[in-house]
Amino acid sequence: MDKNKIVKKYSNGEVTVVWEPSKCIHAGNCVRGLPEVFDAKSKPWINIEGADTQSIINQVKDCPSGALSILGNEKSETQASQPPVNTLIELMKNGPMVIDGEIKLTQADGSVILKNKKTAFCRCGASSRKPYCDGSHTSAGFVG
Ligand code: SF4
Ligand code: FES
Repeated sequence: MDKNKIVKKYSNGEVTVVWEPSKCIHAGNCVRGLPEVFDAKSKPWINIEGADTQSIINQVKDCPSGALSILGNEKSETQASQPPVNTLIELMKNGPMVIDGEIKLTQADGSVILKNKKTAFCRCGASSRKPYCDGSHTSAGFVG
């Protein structure tokens, strides 16, 4: 299987967390913020019963890359409490540029990709998944 296409889902009956490992930039927000749920040393590494639903939703929202997201209706509910925004761009310190929102990406070969969740683009030049970040900025010692 193409590992860039791996998608895993974890549900507690109230919320479903979607995990797309190829998007993870290893920022570590999840394991630091809610270790009861996100533990890289455990298998499976997400224990969806480890915390209450709102804590899980809040932590997933803090994932800078979109590797973690909330499935379906639950996502709209969490977004309903936020002011309306279109597309947000965030430059992560010593890391990627994260675009959160609907975008149309025209690649160098002319192919077009539509995205509507968080997407982390490499700024350091070291990613093996360009134009996307694969976490290599850390080992590359990127500063910027
Ligand atoms: S990018 Fe998201 S999934 Fe990856 S370590 Fe950071 S918070 Fe966790
Ligand atoms: S910015 Fe993350 S790999 Fe380049």
